[in-house]
Amino acid sequence: MIDKKVILLLSLAFLTGAVVVSQQTAQRSAPNAATPREIPWPKQAVRAAHGMVVADEELGSQAGLEILKRGGNAVDAAVATAFALAVVEPAAGNIGGGGFMLIRLADGKTTFLDYRETAPGKATRDMYIGKDGKFDEEASVIGYRSVAVPGTVAGLEWALKSYGTMRLADVMAPAMRLAEEGFAVGEKLAAELEEERSGLQAFPTSKRIFLNGGRRFKTGETLRQPELSATLKHIAQNGAAEFYRGETARMLAAEMANNGGIISLDDLANYKPKVREVLHAKYESGGHAWEVWTAPPPSSGGVAIIEALNMLKDVPLKGWDDAQSVHMVVETMRRIFADRAAYLADPDYAKVPVAGLTDPCYARERAATIDPAKASSSKNVAAGTPHVCGPSANRDAAPHLVNSLAEGRHTTHFSVVDAAGNAVANTYTLNDSYGSHVTCAGGFLLNDEMDDFTAQPGAPNSLYELMQSDANAIAPGHRPLSSMTPTMLLRDGKLSFVTGSPGGPTIISVTLLTVLNWMRLGMEAQAAINAPRFHHQWFPDRIRMEAEFPLSVEQALRARGYEVERGWYETPSLSDDAKLRKHMGLANAIGIDPQTGERLGAADPRDRGSAMGY
Ligand code: DON
Repeated sequence: MIDKKVILLLSLAFLTGAVVVSQQTAQRSAPNAATPREIPWPKQAVRAAHGMVVADEELGSQAGLEILKRGGNAVDAAVATAFALAVVEPAAGNIGGGGFMLIRLADGKTTFLDYRETAPGKATRDMYIGKDGKFDEEASVIGYRSVAVPGTVAGLEWALKSYGTMRLADVMAPAMRLAEEGFAVGEKLAAELEEERSGLQAFPTSKRIFLNGGRRFKTGETLRQPELSATLKHIAQNGAAEFYRGETARMLAAEMANNGGIISLDDLANYKPKVREVLHAKYESGGHAWEVWTAPPPSSGGVAIIEALNMLKDVPLKGWDDAQSVHMVVETMRRIFADRAAYLADPDYAKVPVAGLTDPCYARERAATIDPAKASSSKNVAAGTPHVCGPSANRDAAPHLVNSLAEGRHTTHFSVVDAAGNAVANTYTLNDSYGSHVTCAGGFLLNDEMDDFTAQPGAPNSLYELMQSDANAIAPGHRPLSSMTPTMLLRDGKLSFVTGSPGGPTIISVTLLTVLNWMRLGMEAQAAINAPRFHHQWFPDRIRMEAEFPLSVEQALRARGYEVERGWYETPSLSDDAKLRKHMGLANAIGIDPQTGERLGAADPRDRGSAMGY
């Protein structure tokens, strides 16, 4: 039996000639299933001659595709997709959070836009430490005090004004339609909202909108968001000024003041997205010249990925059923995460030795500490002393004091390439799934990005046990350190791969693996996304690997002295079986076929992503 949504999408594909492959469309109705069913993973990427949008949700990809077909460029489509995901993927799509956008125009101009949230003016270093001296574990992740000043609306407007071709109201049209008319809640969203019930029901607006007033949403029911629709209309009319200085800003500041939050009107008015210099490195592989363009601080991801690629430059990699290849990559991850912990923070306030960390000469020294036959112990692997070689050599970067820090559970990455070859890689987030779980009167969820700061100097406070330094301590106006890593590769000077992922610290490992799969192992685009993933973050000293990993590799790694954990995100509400199947990251990527120039949309099947092209 084919449900209405499938018929609608098939007719749309037929009418528009769009190539539509969505994991969501492949599913057939299983009304009210508590846990979404497994469905087969696609083996091949979606091919399209002109443009491609790949996102977690088909309605998000569709919004971007609609804009591309109306003559918009990749930036227009990316802004449309971002606003649409704020409606249809409330866990992570957002206007109440922040993120990073990497833009590469067909003429080669490459820009990194940092629209990361900032700490409010009243934020203090110890704001989550109680009178008893203990860390208040809830305050930094749930409720009004966990919210940092959102950057998304300012970022999207900046991107559109700088590189888009269409009006804000036009690119926001799909999002406004989805919020006003509503959309059918899919299996995935229904299950996720149920999983988040305890957090969402603590806040009346969240409960009313996302828990259907407490009755819960069943698969196929319509989710309408009238307050969000009104907010989007105001933004479409008045631009980002609405969000930061207009009625929406006044509403948000008043709600904060009434509920113990600390974001003020001034904080909103002062928010500015920043353009940062893109990190860039060059490699040779498979007889081709490769360039990697990736995220600078306050992301830690680009530095880590370049350091890793440098360390792995001369290491033969055969694939992930080869324990030796996994061993070398794991040891590399261990070392880049040790460096991440010691050196990475907001570059506007901390000295981050980017040049040293990304210097090939430093990577050679760092790689030389790897035993090719045995696991190192993280206790014996400290951060290195990053430096550049040659006449400008300097070794003056001192590591910061390392603490632990939690990272959230949900974020979303989407990729866009248009017919002219302009490309966007965008990762944005509310931090945890559903952020602070507060939905404000404007109908949008607010982030809990304050938890990405080192909230509890000197003691672990972490879901993910990620280590970070005190240079990332809370201070007004600072941006919390991020792992989000939107990344692009060029092959022989031409756009070749657009990638990125959510997943807290695993963002770095997952993005690195997609890059290695494409650039070093020559995998087909979909195979590069499907391939099993693994992660090591220095501490805890263990490899996490997806359940699909060959058992023989796990055994060979244990024999080398590793502790290995199968499965990753442990969602308490899931059955043991489902926990084991849980995956790492959701990388929505686009490859370019070097022969035909076709766009190869590779959505991550782990959470039913959607690639749509024409
Ligand atoms: O910026 C960061 O690194 C985190 N706020 C991202 C959180 C995340 O990816 C959770 N996702 N699954």
